Amino acid sequence: MSSLAAQTFSDTFAHLHSAADLHQFIQTTYNRDRILKDIQTDAVFFLCNDEDESAADPIGYCQIRWSVRHAVLVDAEEYPDPSAEIRRFYIRKDQHRTGAGTFLMRFILERAKERDVRTLWLTAMAENHNAIAFYARFGIKRITDETFVYKVGSDFQVSTAFATKLA
Ligand SMILES: CC(C)(COP(=O)(O)OP(=O)(O)OC[C@H]1O[C@@H](n2cnc3c(N)ncnc32)[C@H](O)[C@@H]1OP(=O)(O)O)[C@@H](O)C(=O)NCCC(=O)NCCS
Repeated sequence: MSSLAAQTFSDTFAHLHSAADLHQFIQTTYNRDRILKDIQTDAVFFLCNDEDESAADPIGYCQIRWSVRHAVLVDAEEYPDPSAEIRRFYIRKDQHRTGAGTFLMRFILERAKERDVRTLWLTAMAENHNAIAFYARFGIKRITDETFVYKVGSDFQVSTAFATKLA
């Protein structure tokens, strides 16, 4: 998971940060201890392709925090509990636009339904147009003008919140 997380983060955001900042972020965020700690609270789903010769190697993953609400979900009618956060959602670059993300998201939505989750939310960079176009297909839309700053080494990323109410 460490190497998949590091590779997909780097493929997605390397153009925004210096090599040193990226390296520092990856070392602190995706090291083995941190990931082991994360998965004590997050559910992690790996997507594998059984038509692939190296099917044991995941082609993507999603990290979910069940039962976590964000302060920007102020309207409890519009965005009722239980809510869950899509904390990370990444498909390997060589598998983009193959329907892999859609497959994984449908799977997540089914798991959410089983748990009676009513609101699914996440934060994403406003400039991450590919991801935003992808999330929009599932009704996950920007819900605020507020921004959230995440550190990447000595640099930062500015994100905003997206959500959808599930049927
Ligand atoms: C966003 C992401 C998860 C989508 O996964 P994917 O497997 O490429 O998506 P799919 O093949 O299922 O695409 C479904 C739809 O999403 C939208 N979409 C996906 N990638 C897109 C792109 N590069 N540009 C525009 N729309 C895109 C399209 O509407 C697409 O449908 P289409 O191919 O019929 O036009 C994947 O591109 C990814 O991992 N990106 C890097 C990581 C990332 O940004 N994660 C989100 C962090 S918040």
